[in-house]
Amino acid sequence: MKLRVFVPRDAAAIAVGADEVATALMKSAIKENAAIEVVRNGSRGMLWLESLIEIEQAGVRYGFGPVGANDVESLVKAGLFSANAPLSVTHPLALGPVERIDYFRRQTRLTFARCGVTDPLSLDDYRAHDGYKGLAKALALKPIGVVDEVAKSGLRGRGGAGFPTGIKWKTVHDTAGAQKYIVCNADEGDSGTFADRMIMEGDPFVLIEGMTIAGVAVGATKGYIYIRSEYPHSEIALNAAIGAARKAGLLGAKIAGSTHTFDLEVRMGAGAYVCGEETSLLDSLEGKRGVVRAKPPLPAHKGLFGRPTVINNVLSLAAIPFILSEGAKAYADFGMGRSRGTMPIQLAGNIKHGGLYETAFGVTLGELVDDIGGGTASGRPVRAVQVGGPLGAYFPRALFDTPFDYEAFTAKDGLIGHGGVVVFDDTVDMAKQAKFAFEFCAIESCGKCTPCRIGATRGAETVGKIMAGEKGEANLALVKDLCNTMKFGSLCALGGFTPYPVMSALTHFPEDFKRPAKLAAAE
Ligand SMILES: Cc1cc2nc3c(=O)[nH]c(=O)nc-3n(C[C@H](O)[C@H](O)[C@H](O)COP(=O)(O)O)c2cc1C
Ligand code: SF4
Repeated sequence: MKLRVFVPRDAAAIAVGADEVATALMKSAIKENAAIEVVRNGSRGMLWLESLIEIEQAGVRYGFGPVGANDVESLVKAGLFSANAPLSVTHPLALGPVERIDYFRRQTRLTFARCGVTDPLSLDDYRAHDGYKGLAKALALKPIGVVDEVAKSGLRGRGGAGFPTGIKWKTVHDTAGAQKYIVCNADEGDSGTFADRMIMEGDPFVLIEGMTIAGVAVGATKGYIYIRSEYPHSEIALNAAIGAARKAGLLGAKIAGSTHTFDLEVRMGAGAYVCGEETSLLDSLEGKRGVVRAKPPLPAHKGLFGRPTVINNVLSLAAIPFILSEGAKAYADFGMGRSRGTMPIQLAGNIKHGGLYETAFGVTLGELVDDIGGGTASGRPVRAVQVGGPLGAYFPRALFDTPFDYEAFTAKDGLIGHGGVVVFDDTVDMAKQAKFAFEFCAIESCGKCTPCRIGATRGAETVGKIMAGEKGEANLALVKDLCNTMKFGSLCALGGFTPYPVMSALTHFPEDFKRPAKLAAAE
């Protein structure tokens, strides 16, 4: 039997040389006459250990990392390819059983259960790890029974707004339409986020199964996955998986021998943050420039090409197979308050242990940053943490007891968004960050409404004046007033939420906005 060696095909691993590691392993095996099979798996999400390679022995996976192509020779010399390799290999990069690494062991992996474990492009492997059990359950229920199960799970949209998925599906289910659509939002534009990408590259079938279940539930026969342009590896993985599912009769007419038809297509975006907003995404999918649509009508009533449409984030749809196969209660049993189930949290920025951490809602920000993430990569004190992407608030240490929960974050004038946590050390200049928030909004604004189109530019200018020590108090009052106008007068959350990073910087780090004129001249 061949020795199975796992090398991730995830873009984060490829970026640090995983392809070269795989090639070096194959060359080495030929030289050593060793019978190995290199499996290109997904990432385990411990990004500081990439490329993390694994060897399977008696059902246990032993890890080595971070491995570069230059490390392969010494690993092989230490006995990597021998029968009892991982136990005997004493090498500085040996990590022991991967699933016993603290960062991994402490997680509750429901959505990411298979990511890093299976061969992402093998339908057989997916099925061998409980894949397509959820669809089988869904096909045994009436469509409204599927919708009810999703509603009972308490799942809320993981794209940012946290809207209950069951209610969205029920609206589309109840809306008459000869043609309905399922659209997956894989635009993943938030800073510090990569969970959608990891799923698409590491377990694409779970997304395909989730979308198929959504189609069965609401009566949609066609689905689109809208992927951000920066994710070419996701496009390749999804197209390969869609092809395999189609071949196996799991997409197309009469899926899995049922009376239902459902098929999928991948579409690539063109690099606009605002095209992650659901209505401009629909415009973009229709071949137009991505501009936010006024609501109503809701996409659930009039969405893609004017038809009833479910639009959900990758993580929302990827949670569905577990909910159907294990039951709504099994999912809802995790979490706190109205935040049920697990959240795939992404630790990024200046952090020692950056990566994906799936856990039940309720973990505090402090636990995530100091304990799980191990503090900053620079070794300096943590000063601020931005949660929820570029429109999320900056949290100071004083708020590190805030639990990861939609309502708890709202109560602190913040948001969870897509679960991105970006860490900054004590060298951060929060006035610069506030200016950056306005600049980001000005660049990404679709231009449809005045508070955002004009306000963002004026905001960046005004913070610039404060930084230059010009009429500090008067300009601060102007910024606060402008934030109020943008918050309540913008058509969508791009303009409406830009005040969150700005106001949180002002509220929690006021000292950074007090600039003496002479200091400004030096900057
Ligand atoms: C400016 C802007 C950008 C957004 N970007 C994304 C994104 O990249 N991915 C995403 O899933 N949702 C994004 N959203 C949220 C979507 O509009 C929408 O709420 C989401 O796709 C609904 O899916 P969910 O209910 O599963 O979260 C964005 C919203 C705004 C206002
Ligand atoms: S808030 Fe900005 S992005 Fe949203 S509709 Fe208005 S101009 Fe467009």
